[in-house]
Amino acid sequence: MNDRVRVLIGAQWGDEGKGRVVDVLAKDVDVVVRFQGGANAGHTVVVEGRKHVFHILPSGMLYPDRTCVIGNGLVIDPEELKKEIGELDPKPEAIGVKLLISYAAHIVMPYHKKLDALAEEARSANGSGPIGTTGRGIGPCYVDKYNRIGVRAEDLVSPEILRKKLLAALQEKNPIFEKIYGVPGFDLDELYELALGWGKFIEPYLGDSTLEIDAAIASGKNILFEGAQGTLLDIDHGTYPFVTSSSCVSGGASIGGALGPGRFNQVIGVVKAYCTRVGEGPFPTEERGEVGDKLRKNGVEFGATTGRPRRCGWLDLVALNYAVKVNGIDSIALTKLDVLSGIDGLKVCDAYEIDGVKYSAFPNSATIIQNAKPIYREMPSWSDDISRCRAFGDLPKEARDYVRLIEDSTSVKVSLIGVGPGREDTIQTGF
Ligand code: GDP
Ligand code: IMO
Ligand code: MG
Repeated sequence: MNDRVRVLIGAQWGDEGKGRVVDVLAKDVDVVVRFQGGANAGHTVVVEGRKHVFHILPSGMLYPDRTCVIGNGLVIDPEELKKEIGELDPKPEAIGVKLLISYAAHIVMPYHKKLDALAEEARSANGSGPIGTTGRGIGPCYVDKYNRIGVRAEDLVSPEILRKKLLAALQEKNPIFEKIYGVPGFDLDELYELALGWGKFIEPYLGDSTLEIDAAIASGKNILFEGAQGTLLDIDHGTYPFVTSSSCVSGGASIGGALGPGRFNQVIGVVKAYCTRVGEGPFPTEERGEVGDKLRKNGVEFGATTGRPRRCGWLDLVALNYAVKVNGIDSIALTKLDVLSGIDGLKVCDAYEIDGVKYSAFPNSATIIQNAKPIYREMPSWSDDISRCRAFGDLPKEARDYVRLIEDSTSVKVSLIGVGPGREDTIQTGF
């Protein structure tokens, strides 16, 4: 199969290890494109024992001579971006990495972050319950985008347009802060100066990502579209309303990465060998006791963005098969298999029981999914350390059977297995 143009997405609730798989694949890729989300993402890459966490930048920034694109589908927090570029080592210019930020990407303003926090507080107080957002202003920024009043990256370098947009935004937002939430609003001049400063910083990177990607396709380059969050956090296909505000599924790459659907050759689903979730919302296979604690400890399951402990549980094949369908996954990258070494009483969920009815398919209904109880299949566990395995045959039989079960259940090939966080810690059977 021609696999020059690939999209990689999270097949669960985020934090599947997308960053590390992008880093492995980036070795043979010319262009890496982030297509949605913002600094709510935390993509970890470990190279030679050094940890890098990407929030807005694509996870291909560590390879020399690559092009990394921040697509039109993102919401960029310029403060975060500045910090991230500042902390990058090696520096992009030193290794010939070209960073391109789409003119059409949206900008997260301080009022979006404040609205995010206040809305969470209000949901806690009024009984509807918080979503458990990352507090990065993601929802309110996408609301402005779809309401056609957002500030785009290009506006930061057009002072007149910028001032007009900020004035209009504050005319709408300040009464919300003052009258609804009873807190002070924002000052136009201060915000304008701040945003102009961001413009100076961002200007060298600004460009037309549509043309860049088109040119890359025309010249036969290998392109990888990097998703953030995961299928079950997708605004349409996730466990609404406990989701993020963008399209994290493979289709999102077409819109947020500016490429027609027919041009994609392969969809890679990143799947963790067990499940985790950060924030609120349904998680049928969650283990709240000892097993959950052990998975969290062995897998170091703490948020890369917020540091929050991640909720942990068994692999959910019902949810995974849903992700395979919604995204059209052709190939699975299975991460963190090493974390299951020494976990006794290993289980995977192959169906749900919901109000007395057996479900083999994931219901995209908030009402139905909230009552899902897992029906488990017991799996033989293994205790050997597998972190040094580099070929499928090196794995203990029980671990191989675990991988085979995933392939059999999904009818999708597992093409990469993560056995540790480092760049080299993989078993690759080929995408
Ligand atoms: P992302 O948001 O999908 O990129 O995932 P995160 O970076 O938030 O979380 C994944 C975590 O697991 C990071 O700490 C990675 O370094 C780590 N990780 C990724 N793959 C593996 C693996 O195969 N084994 C182990 N032990 N850790 C892994
Ligand atoms: P990566 O790309 C895990 C979750 C939040 C919350 C919900 C909405 O690292 O996999 P938001 O701030 O987006 O409005 O929060 O989505 N969430 C993530 N969970 N990994 C992520 O990103 C996430 N980004 C958002 O915890 O439940
Ligand atoms: Mg993450």
